[in-house]
Amino acid sequence: MRTVLIVGNWKMNKTSSEAAIFVRELSQRLPVTSTSIEFVIAPPFTALESVRHVLGPGSPIQLGAQDMFWEDHGAYTGEVSAPMLKDLGCRYVILGHSERRTLFGEQSDSIQKKIRAALKHELRPILCIGESLAQRDNGSTDDVLTKQLHESLSDLTGEQMTGVTVAYEPIWAIGTGKSATAEQAVAAHRTIRRVLAGAASPAIADCMRILYGGSVTPQNIESLLASDQIDGALIGGACLQVESFATIAKIATASRPIGV
Ligand code: 13P
Repeated sequence: MRTVLIVGNWKMNKTSSEAAIFVRELSQRLPVTSTSIEFVIAPPFTALESVRHVLGPGSPIQLGAQDMFWEDHGAYTGEVSAPMLKDLGCRYVILGHSERRTLFGEQSDSIQKKIRAALKHELRPILCIGESLAQRDNGSTDDVLTKQLHESLSDLTGEQMTGVTVAYEPIWAIGTGKSATAEQAVAAHRTIRRVLAGAASPAIADCMRILYGGSVTPQNIESLLASDQIDGALIGGACLQVESFATIAKIATASRPIGV
């Protein structure tokens, strides 16, 4: 049984002080911890320290980062490494987000190096993949997902693969208010799991979590999590208000009763 994972990607929002106030309130609003769900927030690098301080040890909310560089240290102006993120208490790191790919020219070879570096330092990578609207319209969604998975995960051992979470984020659904339907998401997740099974083994693919991201809201989270193919969500806009994130968390917790 895969544990549901709800991740809030804040993108470039909230100063360090705003983040501290937000997280203090969010912590009081989250449902009672359950072993069948994990919550992660990924603030900007500049807010990691203040968020960690507010959460304190033993919080049900874990910390994630939105990106990292693959080297541990050195002359890489502006970059942040896995050991730096670990030292700030991060457990997860989002890699290959479509905004990084399209706005900052990130390519699969760098994403692959980042995944390896994250795993080496026991950070759990959340690999984002997804097709554009044009690619969906011309019927190449499955090919795009397959290519992105192969390019990013090639050469990983089966054991390393189990440390990776995949987030299916169709580019046309990100920030548009136009989520994929549950059927579209489930179809993509099935493709992803099939590719993972081919790359590693069906047993390994079965352990790996696949999240959906793209205009997830309190209104659509229940229908998305109704399928056991969808192991959680990567949320942008709706994680920036305490009310909507707490509501999503509550619905997600109720979607998988403990032990099921
Ligand atoms: P939205 O939820 O704002 O569509 O963003 C999704 C996303 O990009 C999360 O990484």
